[in-house]
Amino acid sequence: MRLEPLQGSNHSRITYFNDGRTGKFISHPLAKTHVDDRGLQFSDGIYEVIAAENWQLIDEDLHYKRLVRSLKAVGISTSASKKSIHVIIMELLRRNGLKDAMIYIQITRGIAKRDHYFPKNSRPTLLITVAPLKKPSAEEIENGVVVITIPDLRWQRRDIKSISLLPNVLAKNQALPAKEAWLIDNGVITEGCSTNAYIVIASGAVKTHPKNNLILGGITRETALALAKKNKIKIEEKPFTLQEALNAKEAFLTSTTAKILPVVKIDGKKIGSGKPGKITRKLMKIYNDYVDKITKA
Ligand code: PDD
Repeated sequence: MRLEPLQGSNHSRITYFNDGRTGKFISHPLAKTHVDDRGLQFSDGIYEVIAAENWQLIDEDLHYKRLVRSLKAVGISTSASKKSIHVIIMELLRRNGLKDAMIYIQITRGIAKRDHYFPKNSRPTLLITVAPLKKPSAEEIENGVVVITIPDLRWQRRDIKSISLLPNVLAKNQALPAKEAWLIDNGVITEGCSTNAYIVIASGAVKTHPKNNLILGGITRETALALAKKNKIKIEEKPFTLQEALNAKEAFLTSTTAKILPVVKIDGKKIGSGKPGKITRKLMKIYNDYVDKITKA
């Protein structure tokens, strides 16, 4: 059988793949997992997404901390250390010639005969890919994006960055052509399918769902909130309803790849003036300055 490169990739793309026995840098289309990999059969694994800009990894320590937390939560133990993952990532960036990249790390419980019980002797599969960083468009940054709301059908441990993303995938596609679906659980907006959600209320405070089992604790969220506090922007980590969001002065979303993006319409209704708001712009600038400091170091 001839192995064709995946669409959108080319033969020179290099990926890191470790089947639990040996790890190697391999031509991307040739990196294949076993049919009995538990990630494939049970979504029995976790992942991380990190952004690189100008060869620098943004908030690497926080991402690694969350990776370790996810692994612990699902009881996967890997011998891959922070140092070794860092070395692999830097080598991938170099080999792929990407100074700005989206880095994807996935660790599954490994290869074993299909059985729900944890296998006794499986060794975690580790894969790391890098791809060009898809930044938001100038138009999205300037004019903001629109979101719609959809019921949150996910499980109760959304704090774990599990590769089991079917509800997220379905909601995100249902939302098209909107940028994102904000998910509603028990009458409150938890987060987006792949982003955290925020509103700016009448007092000027930023309101966002508290970090608990009902949302993924976003790294961009963590950094943005810390920067906001430092810059005297008030924060309320409390759930908010769709009605509150529709009445808000401003709204925005965050993620590793989107950074901070203004949200100007929810379910077809304008938020505030229908243009990116003052607090959102201020926080975008503060966050961009923070990233600039890292990337120009
Ligand atoms: N998504 N909420 C969910 C459900 C997410 O999947 C993500 C990240 C976030 C934002 O987290 P962070 O700021 O750490 O990127 C919030 C990644 C980017 C993804 O799945 O591609």
